[in-house]
Amino acid sequence: MPTKLIRVSPSIIAIDYNNDEVLTTALENIERAGANFVHVDVMDGKFVKNKTFDHKFVDKLRDKTSLLLDVHLMVENPDEVVEKYIKAGADIISVHFEACKNITETLKKIKENNVVSGVAISPRTSPLKIKDLLETGLVDVVLVMGVKPGAYGQKFIPGMAEKIAEIREMDKKVFIEIDGGVTIKNSKILRKMGVNIIVSGKTIFESKNMKKTIKQLKGGGIFTKLASYFKN
Ligand code: DX5
Ligand code: ZN
Repeated sequence: MPTKLIRVSPSIIAIDYNNDEVLTTALENIERAGANFVHVDVMDGKFVKNKTFDHKFVDKLRDKTSLLLDVHLMVENPDEVVEKYIKAGADIISVHFEACKNITETLKKIKENNVVSGVAISPRTSPLKIKDLLETGLVDVVLVMGVKPGAYGQKFIPGMAEKIAEIREMDKKVFIEIDGGVTIKNSKILRKMGVNIIVSGKTIFESKNMKKTIKQLKGGGIFTKLASYFKN
């Protein structure tokens, strides 16, 4: 059963990641502010209209931070490219259910290489679609999109929070990650529904006090305080 501790994964497409100085500073700031992962949105310009970076950027990130690399593949051919992200040093790789031709093989490949395996579902995909997949035991994390994949700073789509409860109903152990449109305000209901990992771009990187914002996203309660004493 996933712990009540909430992990926060800042999404770096919300900064000027092509500027090496900005990227280095941002990575240091989020680590110091209590982030657990860094969320790396790979976009190929085909599965989504925007293009960001590929596995070479993940390779570069690997040497720049000790935070876990939470890689979100928004690409049209995840089955063919997943190996490159494993080699680049990703710690978590989430592939889109809607894009995979053979999702069980792809998830197997991720797990065989001791990488945490994630399946991402877009707003239009019902959790029922991944019910059988959850029963295979190949899914470590379900990444629920709170927005249409392809850009940061969008508004949270109502109804996506209920998907978290639906997935929790289907599987008590799987980790659930919410990605897109998360604010301090809506994070309360997301935690209540059973989310374990919160991704945030705009809310974190536009915050005047990153440490406070990350703490608030984690629920800021006793679990967070306790965890800070047992920081790994
Ligand atoms: C959207 C990405 C999200 C997004 C999160 O396609 O997968 O990770 O960058 O950024 P915010 O929190 O600003 O929606
Ligand atoms: Zn993402």
